[in-house]
Amino acid sequence: MKIANRINKIPPYPFVQISRTIAQKKSEGIDVISFGIGDPDIPTPDTVIESLTKGSLKDINHRYPESEGLPEFRLGVANWYSKRFGIELNPDNEIISLIGAKEGIGHVSLALLNPDDIALIPDPGYPVYSIGTLFAAGQDYIMPLLKKNNWLPDLTEIPEEIARKAKVMWLNYPNNPTGAIVQDSYLNDVVEFAKKYDITILHDACYTEIYYDNYLPKSFLNIPGAKDVGIEFHSLSKSYNMTGWRIGMAVGNSEIIKALEIVKSNLDSGAPQAIQEMALAALSLDQEYIETRNAIYENRRNKIVETLNNIGLYVDPPKASLYIWAEVPEGYSSKDFSEQLLEECNVLVSPGTSYGKYGEGFVRLSLTLSDDKIDEALTRIAKWKQ
Ligand SMILES: Cc1ncc(COP(=O)(O)O)c(C=O)c1O
Repeated sequence: MKIANRINKIPPYPFVQISRTIAQKKSEGIDVISFGIGDPDIPTPDTVIESLTKGSLKDINHRYPESEGLPEFRLGVANWYSKRFGIELNPDNEIISLIGAKEGIGHVSLALLNPDDIALIPDPGYPVYSIGTLFAAGQDYIMPLLKKNNWLPDLTEIPEEIARKAKVMWLNYPNNPTGAIVQDSYLNDVVEFAKKYDITILHDACYTEIYYDNYLPKSFLNIPGAKDVGIEFHSLSKSYNMTGWRIGMAVGNSEIIKALEIVKSNLDSGAPQAIQEMALAALSLDQEYIETRNAIYENRRNKIVETLNNIGLYVDPPKASLYIWAEVPEGYSSKDFSEQLLEECNVLVSPGTSYGKYGEGFVRLSLTLSDDKIDEALTRIAKWKQ
């Protein structure tokens, strides 16, 4: 078969590799506990499932949806943005439904990049930013996320000629994989930078609803001028334990939303309507639901941080996101450390390099395992000796 070059250029999806390793161990009868994938173990709320049951019985939901999403869905998203962030969005042209944020993140590059256009991409980061760029024949320019910069790209390190040529910049806070958060002052600089160099900002806000220690993440659109320069991706996946239902949204600048809609209407037919109705039910839940759920993650975070610190891994407890980003002990690479932990403890943590070369020296642990499994994994890890 003559497969396109772009397919051959794709590095294996890191989670696929992780799944294979676990499958191999399992086939040998070994019980591996995996901190690998950020997929909530806590079920979708009951009322949300009930809305699907009702929605599935409506004939109208058996037919093609519209790419932009139901008017009710877009209104529900507008109301949620207003209530949660104090941001007013026009449901007619500033909101579009997505079949999960991943779909929109992948497709938006087709809407914005011409071949060889530059996309500024954080490393370590969610791999789909660069894969979408590759599919659109764009070029990555890597913005390293370093501990000394609090895991924020150093805008002053982007060479003038790259900034002038760049078309888009990807950002993601609360951040996967580092768990970092961002301050308004930084985002103000981002908006100024975007205006100066005419760069579109694509902010991935999938983790704003997973927060701890009384920290409440904001939206990029809270920053004055943000809507002039960009859009934000959101997802029900992590916010409401709905990864399996595939529903999200992009919101913000109407020209970008329109361009994304054109791509989507030509490549997909939108999110199933009954699933959009589930999203509406979820978005109308009280913030108390989120906070009760976050207390479970916070407790897990605390346990994991304590155990890792005890065996000599430095961890800064994250204030948001589903991830612990731990510095591996001296003398180890991310890969060596992950492999040793898997070999000796049958516990899987993701090597930081799965998210880019600047992830070297770190491993990522997801908080989406049941408490029992976490306790068992931590008992195994506590016995680990260098
Ligand atoms: C940073 C980030 N963005 C987007 C996504 C995709 O979310 P969705 O399930 O809505 O496609 C993920 C999923 O892990 C993620 O970590």
